[in-house]
Amino acid sequence: MIFARIAGTGSCLPGDPVSNDDLVARGIDTSDQWIVERTGIRTRHLAPADVGSSDLACTASRRALEAAGVGPDDIDLIVVATSTPDCIFPSTAALLQSKLGMKSGAAAFDVQAVCSGFIYGLTVAEKFIRSGSHRRALVVGAEVFSRILDWSDRGTCVLFGDGAGAVVLEAAEAPGILSTALHADGSHHPILCVPGNVAGGQVIGDPFLRMDGQAVFKFAVKVLGEVALEVVEQAGIRVADIDWLIPHQANIRILQATAKRLGIDMDRVVTTVDRHGNTSAASIPLALDLAIRDGRIRPGQRIILEGVGGGFTWGAALLQY
Ligand code: ACO
Repeated sequence: MIFARIAGTGSCLPGDPVSNDDLVARGIDTSDQWIVERTGIRTRHLAPADVGSSDLACTASRRALEAAGVGPDDIDLIVVATSTPDCIFPSTAALLQSKLGMKSGAAAFDVQAVCSGFIYGLTVAEKFIRSGSHRRALVVGAEVFSRILDWSDRGTCVLFGDGAGAVVLEAAEAPGILSTALHADGSHHPILCVPGNVAGGQVIGDPFLRMDGQAVFKFAVKVLGEVALEVVEQAGIRVADIDWLIPHQANIRILQATAKRLGIDMDRVVTTVDRHGNTSAASIPLALDLAIRDGRIRPGQRIILEGVGGGFTWGAALLQY
């Protein structure tokens, strides 16, 4: 049987950290105390105007390829999860392929599942590899959410940041990824969305991120708890057998409430939301890369990666590193 395992990880955060006080200095009607108390966020990274998701994806991918000990042309599938692509088309994955200088003709496409995008992308790539059709995939979450924020809406603009995380996923004789679960319920689309679009050369409707924060909070905690249990049960193990929980980094209170529901101590939860803010599809691979590089995640350990985002979409992957 063919399995899929993570062979290398990489990440990229643009520029210097931007603190809550920096946002106040830029004229946003907020305070460090409000943001820290409600969200746990202290800093985030914001990409300069000439840096797009594909640029961040390229740096993160090069680091993941190096960690895996392979070159760009050893990849035969690229999946990029993003809700902030460089352009309407071509896909960010195709642009990434070009920036990596790949000549091998690897398949390349984007998935759009907002903050669950990396879990969707990882699951899709895992199925390609397990089917035997592909051997080695680059799976990337890359975002420049700063471009879709209404900087006059203090209820949303303080929450997000830019960044990218990447993994090399390759065929293996043993898992690797032990179980996955993906879900969506489109009826919840109004509580978190960017409703506008481009037509006839104009932006039609509202092009900024809109959110009902309290509704999102309740929904996120509920489904993050459920989907973590689903992948654990699917794999025939117990929550107590999990070494690390890496949830989508939306808000420290969502992470704490999810960990409490699952009976997992916060010292087994990887958190980056304090330093990165919410980087949407990038947050899970960014946190994974950080915890691997700082030595917390060690070979053989079991990790739950889980995400929830606009749509609503949610999902989880249980893996043995
Ligand atoms: N600074 C200061 N005051 C603020 C700010 C701010 N940045 N934002 C809102 N306020 C004020 C409001 O104006 C309001 O003031 P009022 O009482 O005078 O009217 C007060 O704070 C309370 O506002 P609420 O929106 O009710 O605040 P709440 O306690 O719900 O916290 C928050 C808002 C942090 C967004 C919370 O709802 C939350 O964490 N929701 C989860 C949403 C989330 O994490 N989204 C991320 C994207 S979704 C995802 O990734 C899955």
